[in-house]
Amino acid sequence: MYFYGTQSVNELGHLTIGGVDTIDLAHMYGTPLNVYDVALFRERAAAFKETFKNVGVRAQVAYASKAFSSIAIYEVAEQQGLSLDVVSGGELFTAVSAGFPRERIHFHGNNKSFSELQYAFDEKIGCIVIDNFSEITMVKDIAETRKEKMNVLIRVTPGVEAHTHDYITTGQEDSKFGFDLKNGQTDEAFLQLHDHPYLELLGMHCHIGSQIFESDAFCFAAEVLMKKMVAWRDDHDFVCTVLNLGGGFGIRYTEEDEPLHPSAYVEEMAKVVLSMTRSHNYPVPEIWVEPGRSLVGDAGTTLYTAGSTKEVPDVRKYIAVDGGMSDNIRPALYGAKYTAATANRIEEPHVDKVTLAGKCCESGDKLIEEAFLADPTEGDIIAVFCTGAYGYSMASNYNRLPKPAIVFCENGEHQLVVRRETYEDVVRLDIPLQSVKREETV
Ligand SMILES: Cc1ncc(COP(=O)(O)O)c(C=O)c1O
Repeated sequence: MYFYGTQSVNELGHLTIGGVDTIDLAHMYGTPLNVYDVALFRERAAAFKETFKNVGVRAQVAYASKAFSSIAIYEVAEQQGLSLDVVSGGELFTAVSAGFPRERIHFHGNNKSFSELQYAFDEKIGCIVIDNFSEITMVKDIAETRKEKMNVLIRVTPGVEAHTHDYITTGQEDSKFGFDLKNGQTDEAFLQLHDHPYLELLGMHCHIGSQIFESDAFCFAAEVLMKKMVAWRDDHDFVCTVLNLGGGFGIRYTEEDEPLHPSAYVEEMAKVVLSMTRSHNYPVPEIWVEPGRSLVGDAGTTLYTAGSTKEVPDVRKYIAVDGGMSDNIRPALYGAKYTAATANRIEEPHVDKVTLAGKCCESGDKLIEEAFLADPTEGDIIAVFCTGAYGYSMASNYNRLPKPAIVFCENGEHQLVVRRETYEDVVRLDIPLQSVKREETV
C-alpha cells in the first residue's frame, strides 16, 4: 500500500489522514467526502519556494487554483507565501473573499470578458497574463479610460508540447491559448504593449502541458523564451523582468507514475535561465511558476461508501460507490487512472480485483477500471487517492447529485471547509413556471 503525505494506519486498522481517522470523518460528514492533507500542501509549497531560495533566484510560486478553488485553500496558500493564479471572475471573487493579497494575484484565461478585466483593475491585482489581441485592446481601453496602471505578461505558445516523459517541438502551435512565438504574433503583441503609458510589460509566460515527469521540456521552453527576451533587448532596448514557466509538474497517481521532486524541476530550469543570462549578459529575471496538481493532487483523497455489487461471470465484478463522474469526471473524460483502498480495513490484503463504478446514469461512469480492494462489501468506506486536483473543481450536479463536502485535516484536527450541498441547493436556481400560460388545446 502506498501512503501519500501524512496518510497512515491507526490501531483500528483504519486509514488516517493528517492524524484523523477517515472512518470517523465518513461517519461525521457523510460520503462522498473530499479529505485534504493540509501538511502535504504546505510541504510541496515550501519545497518550491525553498529551492528557488537555494538557487538564489527571485521567484513567485503561484498556486494554479483551477486545480481546486475554495476560500480555505486560498487561506493556506496565503499562509505559505504563495501567489495565486486565477482564471475567471469567479476564482478572483473567491480570492477576494479569502482576503488574498491582491498584488500576488495573477489573472489568466483565453477569453476574459471586459467585465472580468474591469474587476481585475478594480481589485488592483498583481498581473494580467494577456492571451490574445482582443484582450490587448480591452486592457488598453480600461487602463487608458481609468488612467490606471496594470502589470501584464504576454502568454506565448513556444512550440513545446510536453506530457509525462516526452515532449515534442512543433513548428506552429495549434492551441487556443496565447500568442504563437514562431509566426510573429508574439512580436506583434510585444510591439503593442512594450511602451504603453499605463501597461507595465513584465515579460513572458508559457505553460507547456500537464503531468510532466521530466525537467527537460521546461528547460527547453525556458531557453526558447529567454532567446526571445534577449532579442527584444537587442532590438528594442527592452528588458523583461519576469519569466513565467507555468505549471504542469507531475504527481504519482499510480505506480506507473514517477514524478520528480519539486526541487528537481526548479533547479534544472533555474540552471538554464542562469546560464542564458550569463552568456547573454542579461539581468536575471524573476522566475514564476504555477503548480496546481503538484500542490493539491495527492493531498486530496475521496471517501465513498460502497453500495451495490454486480458480478458479470468470467468478466468482472462491479462495485458501485455513492459518487462518481459528478465529483470526479477525469476517468470518464480522459481515462485518468487512480488507485483505491478499503479505508476501514486498510491493512488487509488488497487482492480483490473489481471495477469501481460510479452511481451516475452513464455506462462510462467508472472511477477505476481495475481496482484492488480488501474483500469489498456493502458499507465499506473506499478511499480513492490523489483526487485533490481537478476533481471538485470540475464537479457537476449531473443526475442532480449534490456536490460533496470538503474537510481539511492537519495535526490530528479536522475542519469542514466546504459544506455538502443539499437537495435545496440543487434546486436553488430553478424558477417554477409563472407567467407563461400554456395554450389551451382544443
Ligand atoms: C496557465 C496554466 N498554469 C498552470 C496550470 C496548472 O497546471 P498543473 O495543475 O498541471 O500544475 C495550468 C493548467 O491547466 C495552466 O493552464
